[in-house]
Amino acid sequence: MSKSWIRHGYNKVARSLGKADPKNQDFPILKGHPAAQEYAEVALETHETVRSKNKVLKEFKIYRWSPEYPNKKPYLQSYFVNLNNCGPMVLDALQKIKAEDDSTLSYRRSCREGICGSCAMNIDGTNTVACLRPIDADTSTATTITPLPHMFVIRDLVVDLTNFYHQYKLIEPWLKATKPSEDGREYRQSPADRKKLDGMYECILCACCTTSCPSYWWNPEEFLGPATLLHAYRWIVDSRDEFTESRLQALTEDDNKLYRCHIIKNCTATCPKSLDPADAIQKMKTMHLLSLSVEEVKGL
Ligand code: SF4
Ligand code: SF4
Ligand code: FES
Repeated sequence: MSKSWIRHGYNKVARSLGKADPKNQDFPILKGHPAAQEYAEVALETHETVRSKNKVLKEFKIYRWSPEYPNKKPYLQSYFVNLNNCGPMVLDALQKIKAEDDSTLSYRRSCREGICGSCAMNIDGTNTVACLRPIDADTSTATTITPLPHMFVIRDLVVDLTNFYHQYKLIEPWLKATKPSEDGREYRQSPADRKKLDGMYECILCACCTTSCPSYWWNPEEFLGPATLLHAYRWIVDSRDEFTESRLQALTEDDNKLYRCHIIKNCTATCPKSLDPADAIQKMKTMHLLSLSVEEVKGL
């Protein structure tokens, strides 16, 4: 574990004990977003380290796909980036490598600000989006970057998300109503009902949670996975939607779509947007169980 992540762990403990570190005061806007707060602290630390030196060479070991597989296996390729003239995030380092060292390196990216979800990958063992993950300036260890785990690799850091999007489509992620709104304009809801969607509408479908879920690793065809289930719950609790029961019924018609979740919570731990898919899943299970008779629950 690198020094900055140890310090960062210390900061976390200090916060939980009520001893806020001074850097906390720099990011009041991030209150309620622990992942962003953690990343901001590391970014600040990296900035301080880099600005006090002339040249900071950081090694990145990046997974390279092999077109000659199985004759030649995939491998980790080393690149060195001078952090003095690089942006602060891991995506900035990838952009620099691709622009200056190796144009064949492949990865997805678009918004570079944590909105499109396309730059999801595994960085030093954690699924996250590269544009939100600050570079660790500790040069004694390399940063290792691999594709999202347990997914078919198309090329380098690009994985096949066909099944992921297919499952998302299955939950019919749109407002379903039988009648037009009263005045023929938009369907409205009260501020209190709108508030119920907080913690869900922010999901960027990056698939970090789904690809960190052991249940999904073993049952990717049957189990819908945390990202899709978070969105399913988003429509179930939407006060304007008229299909709450049938949505819940579709998720629970077999034991696999929803009930393959065993609340391991890897999904919640890894989400770069600090969302809690495991909580949404748990609430849907509770809603379903409360709608059953004792005999039906016994038979589950
Ligand atoms: S819940 Fe979080 S990790 Fe999962 S897809 Fe949405 S933003 Fe990504
Ligand atoms: S809580 Fe459920 S969905 Fe989340 S990682 Fe664990 S098993 Fe997967
Ligand atoms: S580039 Fe859009 S989330 Fe990273």
